[in-house]
Amino acid sequence: MIKEIIQNEFNAQLVREMYSSNLYLSMSAYFDSIFLKGFAHWFRIQAQEELAHAMKFFDHILERGGRVKIGAISAPPSSWNSPLEAMEDALRHEQLVTAHINELTRLSIQENDYAANVFLQWFITEQVEEEAIVGDVVERLKIIGDWKAGLLMIDSELGKRTSEEETESEKN
Ligand code: FEO
Repeated sequence: MIKEIIQNEFNAQLVREMYSSNLYLSMSAYFDSIFLKGFAHWFRIQAQEELAHAMKFFDHILERGGRVKIGAISAPPSSWNSPLEAMEDALRHEQLVTAHINELTRLSIQENDYAANVFLQWFITEQVEEEAIVGDVVERLKIIGDWKAGLLMIDSELGKRTSEEETESEKN
């Protein structure tokens, strides 16, 4: 049985993952509106992944006999002044999520919740990967500055992203 303190914090994280999904869907719409279809595609897939993260918390709480309570999800911003500004926003957001995951992990240790601790290990690894990918795009956008061809190159690269389901079915 999951302790109430862990259940409540996991419910809060579930909502944060849903917010992440909405934020990235909003970024996808923004990039689509400025005809950077590759960025739009990348964020659309990222939004799906964030929803999958939320569902991991959903399942973990239920599997351990807890109660899922979905709180209010605030509205994300809907426009940014430039691709760089949006990507920097995404990076800041991921850093915030990492801080929350670290805090949840600290709580799992404090409460001797080994199951929660093992569950959170996946998120710790995932956060390293997500910060690295978004941080890499931020740095490359800074390097290219106003060079439009460079921006289109990154756009084309991001447009090649496949979803996790597609990657799995390619393996089979
Ligand atoms: Fe669910 Fe991007 O962290």
